[in-house]
Amino acid sequence: MVQPSNPDSSPKIHTPVLLEEVIRFLAPVDGGIYIDGTLGLGGHTEKILQSCGPSGRVIGFECDASALELARKRLAPFGERFHAQYRNYAEIMAGLTEMGIHKVDGILLDLGVSSLQFDSGERGFSYQLNGPLDMRMDKRSHPSAEEIINDLDREDLADIFYYYGDERQARRIAAHIVAERAQNRITTTSHLARIVTGAVPRKFQPRKIHAATKVFQALRIAVNKELDNLTVVLDTIAKILKPGGRICIIAFHSLEDRLVKWKFKDNPELHVLTKKPVIPCAEEIRMNPRSRSAKLRAAYMKG
Ligand SMILES: C[S@@+](CC[C@H](N)C(=O)[O-])C[C@H]1O[C@@H](n2cnc3c(N)ncnc32)[C@H](O)[C@@H]1O
Repeated sequence: MVQPSNPDSSPKIHTPVLLEEVIRFLAPVDGGIYIDGTLGLGGHTEKILQSCGPSGRVIGFECDASALELARKRLAPFGERFHAQYRNYAEIMAGLTEMGIHKVDGILLDLGVSSLQFDSGERGFSYQLNGPLDMRMDKRSHPSAEEIINDLDREDLADIFYYYGDERQARRIAAHIVAERAQNRITTTSHLARIVTGAVPRKFQPRKIHAATKVFQALRIAVNKELDNLTVVLDTIAKILKPGGRICIIAFHSLEDRLVKWKFKDNPELHVLTKKPVIPCAEEIRMNPRSRSAKLRAAYMKG
């Protein structure tokens, strides 16, 4: 099977995080079958394919059609060693069954948003770029951020901001949103950012981050059901991984990282390889500041 001659054929839209560390913990072997549950632009998958040649395979799951298309192009030189599914990683089991595969040698989840998504105003992930209030990684899914902001009652909105964003001003912000939407439907990121900033008195606004940061993070987690999807995989690891198979998860916020930590710890069939999470070195953070909050945890399935 083909090994691409250019070892880094990446479109420079998203830089894979903790790349060497993922390969070290996943330890791909020739002939192995690996799942990349968050394919994105295919940066990690490319490296895994290079490390499990000539006959190892990667099955990539991706729910964002634009990312999937770019990854497919990038990974085409690997031929049948790479297979992509336009699917939520919570459906890994169904995806494997359809392919007639029982269990795999490794799973990678690189959670969160890709730079491709975050830097596109029209996707609505960033309070810094004006665009439609959307935030869906998967355009087939509902509700969007706009639907949540305009349709949920005040208490439910406040709970989202508080539990997913750790936003202490959640109730105040929710009240302002409800008052505003009674006049005008809230449809853009900058409109929402303005409401949040206006809702919180200066003395309660965070000093180091933008006043809307936590609300935007919370909404994104809710829209994409991030914790629910992660829980599905964490609860079915034993059905997906072969004995000796490895799982690597990169989290970008503490809710995800805590979930991974406890689910790994509570699973008697797993041996945890990372007592503490592995974080990017200073050089990686300098080269790619977005890597700064990444935390990698890894484990293997006992034999
Ligand atoms: C941080 S990026 C991954 C980047 C990738 N590792 C690379 O090197 O290019 C996360 C990707 O996972 C996708 N994603 C997030 N949650 C998903 C889910 N539940 N199912 C499938 N894909 C998901 C997002 O659309 C995004 O493209």
